[in-house]
Amino acid sequence: MKKVTLFVISLFAITLFMTSCGGGSQPAAEQPAATATGPYADLPADIQAMMPRGEEIYKTKCTVCHQTTGLGIDNVFPPLSKADYLLADKVRAVAQTLNGSKLDMVVNGKTYSQEMVPQVDTKEDAVAVINYVLNNFGNKDGFVTMAEVQGIEIKPRKK
Ligand code: HEC
Repeated sequence: MKKVTLFVISLFAITLFMTSCGGGSQPAAEQPAATATGPYADLPADIQAMMPRGEEIYKTKCTVCHQTTGLGIDNVFPPLSKADYLLADKVRAVAQTLNGSKLDMVVNGKTYSQEMVPQVDTKEDAVAVINYVLNNFGNKDGFVTMAEVQGIEIKPRKK
């Protein structure tokens, strides 16, 4: 009688062990490796993939005016950090990065009227850097897609 009980208990234990093992390994295998963690985890994979390029462009081309903080310089270079003007129209931000801008604009209550010349030559680069801006400098404001900027015309560059 005792032997039978022991046998049943060990069978039960083996079954438990095997099911818990099988169940535990499955979700880990299904996780997409590159997109699971990090500051951009909540963004679509194609947007995440542009971030290294966006960061490189920002650090080489934008910091001189908009600063490493994205705060700009009051009344001279507008902020890209928590900027109401930028967030009001992401496609416009891509167009301005591509074609430059020479307007009187009010950003967070301050007026800017210096000219910004075109900063990048392709829509891919403009979208990458704006997506980088939208998710750095205290911004967490979504993203803009290549499809959304299809209608932007790249103006001929002044020589
Ligand atoms: C030589 C200085 C300079 C550089 C470099 C520069 N900008 Fe600007 N940027 C300006 C100025 C000046 C304005 C305001 C233009 C106006 O009044 O029409 C501006 C405006 C903007 C705006 C619209 C205003 C806002 O706050 O949203 C965006 C977006 C922008 N810049 C993005 C960029 C990006 C991205 C880069 C780098 C790829 C860049 N800029 C590089 C000077 C610069």
